[in-house]
Amino acid sequence: MRKIIKDIAILKPDDKEANEQVKISEENNTGKTRKLYIESYGCQMNFSDSEIVASIMSEHGFDTTSEVDNADVVLLNTCAIRDNAEQRVRNRLRNLNHIKNKKPGMVVGVLGCMAERLKKRLLEEEQMVDIVAGPDSYRDLPQLVLQADEGQEAVNVFLSRDETYADIAPVRLNSNGVTAFISIMRGCDNMCSFCVVPFTRGRERSRDPYSVVKEAQDLFDKGYREVTLLGQNVDSYLWSSNPDVISLLGEKKAVKKGADLTGVDIVDFAGLLEKVALVSPDLRIRFSTSHPKDITEDVLHTMAKYENICKYIHLPVQSGNSRVLDAMNRGYTRERYLEIVASIRRILGEECGISSDMIAGFCTETDEEHQDTLTLMKEVKYDFSYMFYYSERPNTTAAKKMEDDVPLEVKKKRLQEIIALQQELSLKRNQQDIGKVHKVLVEGFSKRSDDYLKGRNTANKMVIFPKKHYKKGDYVNVMVKECSAATLIGDPV
Ligand code: SAH
Ligand code: SF4
Ligand code: F3S
Repeated sequence: MRKIIKDIAILKPDDKEANEQVKISEENNTGKTRKLYIESYGCQMNFSDSEIVASIMSEHGFDTTSEVDNADVVLLNTCAIRDNAEQRVRNRLRNLNHIKNKKPGMVVGVLGCMAERLKKRLLEEEQMVDIVAGPDSYRDLPQLVLQADEGQEAVNVFLSRDETYADIAPVRLNSNGVTAFISIMRGCDNMCSFCVVPFTRGRERSRDPYSVVKEAQDLFDKGYREVTLLGQNVDSYLWSSNPDVISLLGEKKAVKKGADLTGVDIVDFAGLLEKVALVSPDLRIRFSTSHPKDITEDVLHTMAKYENICKYIHLPVQSGNSRVLDAMNRGYTRERYLEIVASIRRILGEECGISSDMIAGFCTETDEEHQDTLTLMKEVKYDFSYMFYYSERPNTTAAKKMEDDVPLEVKKKRLQEIIALQQELSLKRNQQDIGKVHKVLVEGFSKRSDDYLKGRNTANKMVIFPKKHYKKGDYVNVMVKECSAATLIGDPV
């Protein structure tokens, strides 16, 4: 047992992008004639989009491959959230250039947020790129590939007001067969002053709830046991059966003011959660991301009502100081945020997992204001956080109107303090789980050993335990005996 604990990787303070993963398409041979390789960067949204891309391409003669060298078409689904996310993609393109030199017929496409941000410029700056496609143009990809095959410029960065890809059944690319993502909305209207997403993903729109429920049901029928509902801000999910009230719904105030909407089918996020929860008590539901300015008590009560809605909320705070939050245009104060956390604790109990995103060294942040972030973290006792230092993004309000005046060294120092504190808090929170039985959904073998299985408890904590006779997709009750800051370790009971 002890050996496993020592082996568990701990987030290093200088490992800025340690949270950032890359996902690579798996081999999938169904006898199609051409091969597609997709590499995805950034958030879960992008990973989910790549599954939509694979589905569209499979309808047009492509199987996926995990080997770049075997691919006819190579797509990078990119992220633009911070400068180093983009630099990573640029390095990868340079690297792909070597392969393309040996295989001139290979088509290279850049998809996603970096494609949307840079548009045609990408073709000029990265000579080996053939296709540039933004997040709302994936239905056009087969056509763009044809254009690229013929040596024509292939760019589509049109942002849509209504594209949700609701009718497309995603091809699951990195599937463990147990957990899957379902996109429930696209875009973001929030305009946080630091953030590039509203520019790269366009206006917010919600997907038909019945297509969401159908996708969840199909996954359950195929043996999946957990779905994560995805959106940049799931709490502002709002859909109506009547297109005429869509604009009204856009102005949510109209609904609150009690406009006459009799006979109109309206579904908000709490309503959607309930619909998906009713698919089966054996299907777990998670969701991300919640926005502190929009989360409602209705959502918390719906979570409490259904055992299969996981007791875990990713509630990014970004900063613990109200002046900085205002400069960030987040729409809540430190006090309001703490009130929401109190509601979560009251309605869902101490055990509910809460995680956050933090930005260190935003424009004009003073050292005292940074201290407020640390004290807020201690007060909330986050189970986990994604932590970054501020990276200025072109065209955002912060870039246009504020000065990026915190020196890099100071940003890094503050980030290190945040990471070190989170490490302590995670360990403390995990220690409280020792001696308790947790219901774990098995996702596969533990990273270190095939004698152990891994899965998460309702609060989203990874639990490792001896395999015995259990297998993927089982729910197992595990008595937790030990922990690190990242993992719980126990025995089935
Ligand atoms: N929609 C989610 C966040 C999506 S972006 C939300 O509002 O919470 C994921 C995280 O990246 C953000 O929460 C923020 O912490 C971080 N981030 C976004 N823009 C950034 C920037 N310019 N510099 C550093 N971190 C940033
Ligand atoms: Fe970016 Fe804010 Fe939208 Fe999140 S809510 S994606 S941080 S603009
Ligand atoms: Fe990155 Fe776009 Fe997601 S910028 S974080 S891939 S929405």
